[in-house]
Amino acid sequence: MSKISAAITAVGGYVPEYVLTNKMLEDMVDTNDEWITTRTGIKERRILKEEGKGTSYLAIKAAQNLIDKSGIDPLEIELVIVATATPDMKAAPTSAYTATQIGAKNAFSFDLEAACSSFLYGMSVASKYIESGKYKKVLLIGADKNSSMINYEDRATCIIFGDGGGAVLFEPNQEGLGLQDEFLRSDGIGRDFLQAKYGGSSYPSTPEAIKNHEHQVFQDGKTVFKNAVFNMADVAVKILERNKLTVNDVSWLVAHQANKRIIDATANRIELEEEKVMMNIQKYGNTTSATLPLLLCDYESKLKKGDNLIFAAFGGGFTWGSIYLKWAYNS
Ligand code: UT7
Repeated sequence: MSKISAAITAVGGYVPEYVLTNKMLEDMVDTNDEWITTRTGIKERRILKEEGKGTSYLAIKAAQNLIDKSGIDPLEIELVIVATATPDMKAAPTSAYTATQIGAKNAFSFDLEAACSSFLYGMSVASKYIESGKYKKVLLIGADKNSSMINYEDRATCIIFGDGGGAVLFEPNQEGLGLQDEFLRSDGIGRDFLQAKYGGSSYPSTPEAIKNHEHQVFQDGKTVFKNAVFNMADVAVKILERNKLTVNDVSWLVAHQANKRIIDATANRIELEEEKVMMNIQKYGNTTSATLPLLLCDYESKLKKGDNLIFAAFGGGFTWGSIYLKWAYNS
């Protein structure tokens, strides 16, 4: 019998209706549309405004979209992984609530957190369950309500982030399609440069910290930018070399959407033409764990069975990596 690989067989996505444009940000902080567009490529982002709705709302909507499109029976799902950096609550996994709400009553579930690399790492984890031969349907959701941890008085961060969710279904494949190889890394040096310091176990939140916005995201953008440019390109090159792929073999670059200049730098490093670079940062900004599955949703109709997709991501921690996946279906 041929080897079992883990293929993506369905995708779904969701973004909230509320649109926060660059123009609107001009009234909130000292910035302008021209600066944001040229420095990041972002024109607008979506924000989940409704009180009491958290990341699970985005995750559930994305998963329901996948279920509706694919016709899969939720009772057949065996595992639900929610990749997120913004769980609904502490001590209660977002995944358990999400799985129950979508009717995946026969599944176990867990959250997976690796900042902006959460979904990429999640692809690695989800595929291992499939490759083991023990599981046949693993739902991986990437969702983040970033607006819950952003200071809308800090122009260094509020222009970048948005809210959204995306989902993919992993199933066994015996035609050699699906996840082929991965190159994942992390370096704890990064946490000084991108963090929400208060509200975790090291520094529980205090009224003083909240007053100083220290429970919200701080980013030394320049340092993160430099590390992202170097490392995302580096792993993309390594994964191509290790799999003896030339740039002509690459159908699509599916890169984390944090800054268009970082994505362009990665594409340039592997000499990939612009038409093969998936891009939706202009519409959604950086949706953290949702960027990769939202790209797959937006480009699903263009993907063909056998296409070689190179995923790449970089995020807080630092965490980063690249995955080589062969697309498994024509839509
Ligand atoms: O997904 C997780 C990983 N995150 C990332 O990958 C994000 C990485 N970092 C970045 O994308 C970029 O560093 C930013 C978009 C955050 C900032 O862009 P930059 O080109 O690195 O700008 P900078 O921080 O070096 O600032 C350049 C100038 C500064 O002014 P001076 O000192 O030159 O006078 C900033 O004060 O731009 C100023 N500036 C702004 N001006 C208008 C910073 N933010 C803004 C703003 N609007 N929003």
